[in-house]
Amino acid sequence: THVVTESCIRCKYTDCVDVCPVDCFREGPNFLVIDPDECIDCAVCIPECPVNAIYAEEDTPPDQLQFIQINADLAKAAGWKSITKRKPALPDADDWKDKPNKLPQLQK
Ligand code: F3S
Repeated sequence: THVVTESCIRCKYTDCVDVCPVDCFREGPNFLVIDPDECIDCAVCIPECPVNAIYAEEDTPPDQLQFIQINADLAKAAGWKSITKRKPALPDADDWKDKPNKLPQLQK
């Protein structure tokens, strides 16, 4: 599977969802995840993300490994719905895109 990591939090640019051939993205209030049961590892979403949030699971950086489970859990969480069309990023996305340690900001 592929994994959405920390840099997406509070940005949610959504460029990634337009290119997914199997509609495997799920949307929460300020983050997206990939449903690992749907992702076919095509990798077309990786270069679309302006903040480089998406990795193949095996390439996930060591400090982002917890996001493998976070994607799996939130993909099945109540209220996290399929998103297949790009929409405007969060209003202050550009202020947050370079900030580290955004995990405490994740809304579920
Ligand atoms: Fe998030 Fe990047 Fe997609 S910021 S919504 S993973 S384009």
